[in-house]
Amino acid sequence: MYNAKAYSAVSATSRLASATIPRRDPAEHDVQIEILFCGICHSDLHQVRNEWSGFMPTVYPCVPGHEIVGRVTKVGSAVKKFKPGDLAAVGCLVDSDRTCPECKAGFEQFCANMTLTYNSPDKHTGAVTYGGYSDSIVVDERFVLRVPSNLDLAGAAPLLCAGITTYSPMRHWGVTKGKKVGVVGIGGLGHMAVKIAHALGAHVVAFTTSASKKEDALRLGADEVVVSRNANEMQKHAGSFHFILDAVAAAHDINAYLNLLRRDGNITLVGAPEKPLAVSAFALIFGRRSLSGSPIGGIAETQEMLDFCGKHNITANVEVIPIQKVNEAYERLLKSDVKYRFSIDMASLKSG
Ligand SMILES: NC(=O)c1ccc[n+]([C@@H]2O[C@H](COP(=O)([O-])OP(=O)(O)OC[C@H]3O[C@@H](n4cnc5c(N)ncnc54)[C@H](OP(=O)(O)O)[C@@H]3O)[C@@H](O)[C@H]2O)c1
Ligand SMILES: [Zn+2]
Ligand SMILES: [Zn+2]
Repeated sequence: MYNAKAYSAVSATSRLASATIPRRDPAEHDVQIEILFCGICHSDLHQVRNEWSGFMPTVYPCVPGHEIVGRVTKVGSAVKKFKPGDLAAVGCLVDSDRTCPECKAGFEQFCANMTLTYNSPDKHTGAVTYGGYSDSIVVDERFVLRVPSNLDLAGAAPLLCAGITTYSPMRHWGVTKGKKVGVVGIGGLGHMAVKIAHALGAHVVAFTTSASKKEDALRLGADEVVVSRNANEMQKHAGSFHFILDAVAAAHDINAYLNLLRRDGNITLVGAPEKPLAVSAFALIFGRRSLSGSPIGGIAETQEMLDFCGKHNITANVEVIPIQKVNEAYERLLKSDVKYRFSIDMASLKSG
């Protein structure tokens, strides 16, 4: 074991602060990565504040962060895919049982025994996993991704969660040219969804509560933007969407969006508000519409998404911050005051 520097929270109400955490020395199949950038996902905030206590209670101290890019510093003797000096990335998963039908099908995100990058039982240490708000991480090479060399690293980090979480359901539901696709909530996930849906060739409509994001959304690749607080603007799109991705982090009226779907249209929730949403049966019945959810993505699909983003030169729009600003960043995230993802420059951890 060795000591790594990190930022952790010791309770649901405490600020994140500098800490030392134990990491395992790289074993045969492990890759040790010096973390260069880590994105701030809204899930980090939900988890740090124990907002998912009924489903995924937080174990403290909690070191969040699952949008990790860095450089390989050491590899185990059996590692084939990476060598010291290579760029590498880690997303929301660091292990799974590898033997269940889901794992065999490449759907590690559905494995009952998956290990999340943070707040999961750690098979190696017996404690809990610690995420990317840290100077280094050690991960089995099967769960380490390659970063296309043309991508800016600070902007590439958010692809590891915001990118794959939006890419995966859009691929599953057949987002392509000729489809009308809505994206609700233009935050970290939503702005990636707009870029990816546009690159997949769809007609993209962005829904935002922030009128100030209108021009930006068009620049990100939306063909149209609707300010969702305006009922008339919403009504113009009634019954017209093939697919809508809902990336809102707070309570909101899902029925207003169900009514915008055409026959057999689908809304997929990727946003995970703390409280249940009320769904009108009639909004589903008329039009045989469906409502579903989707978590992150498997390892092979995450690599496919990174390669797709490399090909289309897609990264997140980021505001790079030093780790010392992380608590302030959380407060701003709650106010949707970031365009559109914070990316922590982990070199700042060296100074405290
Ligand atoms: N399914 C998964 O695997 C997965 C993976 C990652 C994250 N998530 C979840 O996805 C959600 C979004 O994450 P994120 O990192 O993209 O968060 P974010 O950057 O905070 O974006 C959320 C966006 O939702 C909109 N919004 C916020 N409050 C709202 C309200 N009261 N009513 C309506 N709209 C509101 C805002 O967009 P506008 O200003 O445009 O309205 C905001 O920018 C979080 O709940 C997160 O935990 C799920
Ligand atoms: Zn995330
Ligand atoms: Zn499995």
